[in-house]
Amino acid sequence: MSTFSHIRGLGFHVPERLYTNTDLEKIVDTNDEWITTRTGIKQRHVVEDETCLDLTYEASLKALKDAGMEADELTHIIIATFTGDMPVPSTACMLMERLGIKNKAAMDIAAACSGFVYGIEVARALINLDPTAKILLCGAEVLTSRVNWEDRSTCVLFGDGAGATILTAGDGIETGKIVDTLIRADGGPSSNLTVKGGGSAHPYKINQKVGEEYFVQMQGREIYRFAVRSMTAICNEILEKHNLTADDVNVLLPHQANLRIIEAVGKKLGVDRERVFVNVDKYGNTSAASIPIALADARESGFINEGDLVLLTTFGGGLTWGAALVQF
Ligand code: ACO
Repeated sequence: MSTFSHIRGLGFHVPERLYTNTDLEKIVDTNDEWITTRTGIKQRHVVEDETCLDLTYEASLKALKDAGMEADELTHIIIATFTGDMPVPSTACMLMERLGIKNKAAMDIAAACSGFVYGIEVARALINLDPTAKILLCGAEVLTSRVNWEDRSTCVLFGDGAGATILTAGDGIETGKIVDTLIRADGGPSSNLTVKGGGSAHPYKINQKVGEEYFVQMQGREIYRFAVRSMTAICNEILEKHNLTADDVNVLLPHQANLRIIEAVGKKLGVDRERVFVNVDKYGNTSAASIPIALADARESGFINEGDLVLLTTFGGGLTWGAALVQF
């Protein structure tokens, strides 16, 4: 008999500095009309001095407060990110120190934009191993540190931010129940979305100039097709597994990468546009932070209400993808 995991607290934080589409017109040869019609993005938040740890810390404090918990009650800290403060130590270990606690488990996980949904599956497994576990699961990204600000085809897409959740066993509370998760990957088409520089296949060399391989490189068209196909298929799979249809879903909350992708997935699934949550216009694509930011934003703004069945879905580098069903 498995123990269900529940979302007990939510919070998010983005840096103050805003880059609107008009601001980007001063950096690269682009314009608001192109960015808006192709992506739906109007602005993104971009760090000045803050790091991934700073953003995650602020989001975590909000999630802890929302859950009515003290940091010391946590047993695990997990951060989904590929733009942590540094490769070693993990940002999760640094967050533990910043929260003023020790002797807990801490790790970062890397599944690119799908990292948070992968993290939910990991947290569920940990709570099944030990139903007393109390897990701080964050998605956090300073993606603009890996963006080539001379490449207009990528730099307009991304933003920085962090989202945090607290996951525990139910303890008699039914809301926020993780009904199920499905996570998948296919390394075959991985070259369509890469950040190569600094990996052991592309090691840093002293005095080497930073080249294009250091930044996000993407075949936009291929990723677009993959995103629509993979998210639609995995949503249908998780619904069928639970004898549900699109009509049972109160809120579809997809990875906020591109409005056209989000709308195409909603349409293919048969979820009305009014039930699809969108905030990509305000934050751009924040990769692993996008789903927890969207969850906290949707709950705060009253888009998600108690009793709603929420279908999360994601895709990203790897290539990776996934879905989760949450009963609020
Ligand atoms: N401003 C103005 N023109 C631009 C810009 C820009 N910012 N970027 C590209 N263009 C130009 C191109 O140079 C090209 O011009 P050309 O026809 O003269 O050669 C033209 O616009 C069309 O370019 P395409 O790349 O074909 O445009 P497309 O319609 O495919 O849209 C986009 C590009 C928005 C990137 C789309 O392919 C897409 O959304 N793909 C998915 C991206 C995504 O979701 N990535 C997330 C990855 S996973 C993660 O979250 C990390």
